[in-house]
Amino acid sequence: MIRIQHTYAKLDTLHTTLLLQLKDLPEIIYYGERLRDAEDYSYFGSGTDGAPLSSADDVCSNACVLSSSGDGSNRETMLHIVAADGSGTLRPVLFDAKVQKGKPLFQSSLPSSYGESESLILCYKDSIGLEIIQYFTVFKDSDVIATSVRLRNTGEKSVHIRRCMSLQLDLGKGDWEAVTLDGASQRERCPHRTLLRGGSLSAASFAGLSSNAHNPYVIARNRSNRGGCIACNLVWSGNHRQIFDLSPLSGLRLLSGINDYLFNYKLDPSETFEAPEAVFVRGEEETEVCEQMRAFAAEHIVRGEWKKKVRPILINSWEGFLFSFDQKKLMEFCRRAAQVGIELFVLDDGWFGKRDDDTCSLGDWKVNRQKMGGTLREFADKVRKSGLMFGIWMEPEMISKDSDLFRAHPEYVLSVPQKETMEIRHQRVLDLTNPKVRQYMIEAISSVVEESGASYLKWDCNRGIFDLPGAEELFYRYTLGLYEVLDTITKKYPKLLIESCASGGNRYDLGMLCFTPQIWASDNTDARSRLAIQEGTLYGYPQSSMGAHVGASPNPHTFNSSSPDTRFSVASAGAFGYECDITALSEEMLETVRAQVVFYKQWREVMQFGRYYRTDSVFDGEASGWIFVSEDKSRAVAVVALPEKGCSAIPFRARFQGLDPNALYEVSSRPQKGAVPVFFKAYGDALCHGNIRLGNLFTESEMHEYSNQVVTRMFTFTRIG
Ligand code: DGJ
Repeated sequence: MIRIQHTYAKLDTLHTTLLLQLKDLPEIIYYGERLRDAEDYSYFGSGTDGAPLSSADDVCSNACVLSSSGDGSNRETMLHIVAADGSGTLRPVLFDAKVQKGKPLFQSSLPSSYGESESLILCYKDSIGLEIIQYFTVFKDSDVIATSVRLRNTGEKSVHIRRCMSLQLDLGKGDWEAVTLDGASQRERCPHRTLLRGGSLSAASFAGLSSNAHNPYVIARNRSNRGGCIACNLVWSGNHRQIFDLSPLSGLRLLSGINDYLFNYKLDPSETFEAPEAVFVRGEEETEVCEQMRAFAAEHIVRGEWKKKVRPILINSWEGFLFSFDQKKLMEFCRRAAQVGIELFVLDDGWFGKRDDDTCSLGDWKVNRQKMGGTLREFADKVRKSGLMFGIWMEPEMISKDSDLFRAHPEYVLSVPQKETMEIRHQRVLDLTNPKVRQYMIEAISSVVEESGASYLKWDCNRGIFDLPGAEELFYRYTLGLYEVLDTITKKYPKLLIESCASGGNRYDLGMLCFTPQIWASDNTDARSRLAIQEGTLYGYPQSSMGAHVGASPNPHTFNSSSPDTRFSVASAGAFGYECDITALSEEMLETVRAQVVFYKQWREVMQFGRYYRTDSVFDGEASGWIFVSEDKSRAVAVVALPEKGCSAIPFRARFQGLDPNALYEVSSRPQKGAVPVFFKAYGDALCHGNIRLGNLFTESEMHEYSNQVVTRMFTFTRIG
């Protein structure tokens, strides 16, 4: 997979080759489709073909994988180091390059990808005594390359790291477009395209979480006839920054790493700093790199018991009851849920301390006996007796001022003397850089998990960090502290399914996915909104990771109404569940839910783990749609959706993807109220290349009944020949 020959290092993935010329500052001389091995590559020009034209231009305009302050380039650089004497010039020189089986492990609690692999290790030295170790790992079954950087102080004096990006790729000239996933609470990860015409664009987060504002997953797409797309992501859940820096002379530089906002890490002699892992992939088309990234996350990031195990259908108490429930209400809820075949009950916020609203008790993870009618174990046992698995909500990183924990340990909170500690949702953030706090957290989580015998934990986090003691290292150390706790908990309870959540999808990233196989994508359960949120999420993350629930209609967040069929079709694109007061549903509606559950169980293997293809985008055109195809292409499930209200019925036609062109499929529509059933047989080639008539999507009754006129239909494909 990796070959060092003369002065070249050739990294081969399944379909691509990254060719580096090893010199003082290694140069990218090729990154594209896989090349055969050759003796000589001297005929390749530099990636940018650039050369300084005058003293004002970049002196260092070659395409490199590393750059630094003072290296001669008039642009964004990867490393900013300030030496003990206050100087900022770093001129690292490569002194060793070797290939190693597997990949070097982090010494710190940083999570990273795993799998059968081989790594190229490049070692550089600068005269201030700083060693830079950069690795590139290729995997047997993927085109994705993982990379990271470690800085070791071999000198006698401390240095300050002001910036240490994990990835630099100089991609040269082209007609570049940046694809970023941006948003806010309730409208997370919407893809945006920005034509890069000069200067730099950065996608970053600043409040200690990877954020719903800008996700660390980005794509650089070359629209010129040279083409090519590079996608990259970061295995990191804290502040991040991805920079698209366009130099008129040298073209596009893509940087990805932790955000240098307030960052100023003191590296003492003999110490090592580890930057999180970045992962990147190149392909001709955007859809190709997205597919690679989803598959990589599913295979090389998500791990443990639940990696490939079908995820249970859950029902969560939050949207149905918020804080207002008691044992009786919940048991009736569970009884109904079990009756319709739901598998897991999740007891959300409000079960502990004296928490009847969001003003108190975070940190007091002891059951409210009055509300729950006994101990946590007794309640959880009752739930299990009703036929459901038991799951529970916690927000372990937080503390309420009105809590016993705060009264006993005010020093556990992140705060700055002489400044009022900021309250958001009446809560403060625990200082995870403090080992005692981490120990408290581990004990608190363990006691809840053990006492309840929970099979599932929803790990919530509902605010960012704005109280900044020790700011220069705080964000980095907080995230490492979080990982340490997550690592301990996942090792201690390997069978526990953890779904992470942060006010919906405010921390959806590969770092969390190393510990929690599922992430709640958004608090917004409105079908129309979800079409956008889920399409954006699936640019870079596998559908099995994406928590998606059927909510009530009208939706509690948007007040739009939509049909049960539509809500089901949309939510079934992810790790599926319900989030509404099931005790308030009519018998007819319960029957509908029962039928959905039966259908979902029959097809969930394909829907959760099949290959995802976007057939139509909600962001352009009239329709939205997708298909999940099983690995052997024998089964598939598709959804077509018309996201906007139309005035007349339109005969809808669809085109699918990913099916075996030579196989004959039986295609049938999932029975939906008021919809014309569809049933026919066709070959995969026709289904993928033709416009298949699917009947009439808009039906009069749905038009009248629901304000949010998203109409969907769902189809199954079974290979019969
Ligand atoms: C925010 C989450 O996103 C919701 O799903 C819910 O768990 C609430 N927190 C509970 O406070």
